[in-house]
Amino acid sequence: MDIKGKRFVLTGASGGIGQELAKQLSYQGASLVLVGRNAIALNQLAAELPDTIVIRADLGCELDFDYLVNQLKRMALDGVIQAAGLNAFATLDRLNKNALDTMIQTNLLAPMQLTQALLPQLLARPSAVLLNVGSTLGSIGYAGYSAYCASKFGLRGFCESMRRELASTDVRVLYVAPRATATEMNSDAVTKMNRQLGVAMDSPKFVAAQIVRAIEQESAVTYLGWPEKLFARINGVAPGLVDKSLAKQLPTIQTYAKQQHSAL
Ligand SMILES: NC(=O)c1ccc[n+]([C@@H]2O[C@H](COP(=O)([O-])OP(=O)(O)OC[C@H]3O[C@@H](n4cnc5c(N)ncnc54)[C@H](OP(=O)(O)O)[C@@H]3O)[C@@H](O)[C@H]2O)c1
Repeated sequence: MDIKGKRFVLTGASGGIGQELAKQLSYQGASLVLVGRNAIALNQLAAELPDTIVIRADLGCELDFDYLVNQLKRMALDGVIQAAGLNAFATLDRLNKNALDTMIQTNLLAPMQLTQALLPQLLARPSAVLLNVGSTLGSIGYAGYSAYCASKFGLRGFCESMRRELASTDVRVLYVAPRATATEMNSDAVTKMNRQLGVAMDSPKFVAAQIVRAIEQESAVTYLGWPEKLFARINGVAPGLVDKSLAKQLPTIQTYAKQQHSAL
């Protein structure tokens, strides 16, 4: 898709990856609808970018969600980019029920519900994209991330199904799976743990550039980072090998997970 002159709605626009993505899409001539809860951050960003508006909405709140959909239904959208997401790093025994509900709602149900609400108008456009930001952890189950992995595995399955369901239409369904990225989603403990485990972290700028590229090239599935993209494939065909490799990391993960609070 040629980004110039297209209008995209972007959830997670106030986040580390979202802010970079908004800037890069805008520099390429896109007009944007920025969505998030942090109105100050969203308005600051919108003030820097032409043809950009803000809709403040909590994707976990039914009233906000309905308001968002009502506003978006009045617009001619060429794409829906869903980058909103939450993660609480903790072993399952330390995750409270609210954390489970919130992760599933924000990372999985909200993208499904927004897709369902906006699909009729996307189908009415000459062409459109639906891009969801997943994760390497949508392909590899990882200790300390059980609920996040469940939500992102679900999102990957949803995208794959929708890609096939919409194959005969002009709506392309794209899934981009970043590896660990240096944003506020990762606490100091996670950043230290990643360093100790030798897990590389990308910059949000790099990740945003790969998302822009996926839109331009209409790449159905994009995994970021070596060796993560290789591990994702190996995990699909020989998960026992990955079990053995990750078992060595478990004591380190458990140590850091104990330092975390479950609240989101
Ligand atoms: N960082 C990583 O290591 C990493 C790795 C792989 C994939 N990802 C994925 O990349 C995406 C962006 O993450 P990030 O790293 O940029 O995280 P981030 O900096 O923490 O940003 C998260 C974004 O999600 C929004 N959000 C969270 N809950 C929301 C809710 N209930 N309603 C509306 N918006 C909500 C936040 O908005 P407000 O702050 O305005 O509430 C913020 O804009 C996520 O889907 C994440 O799962 C991240």
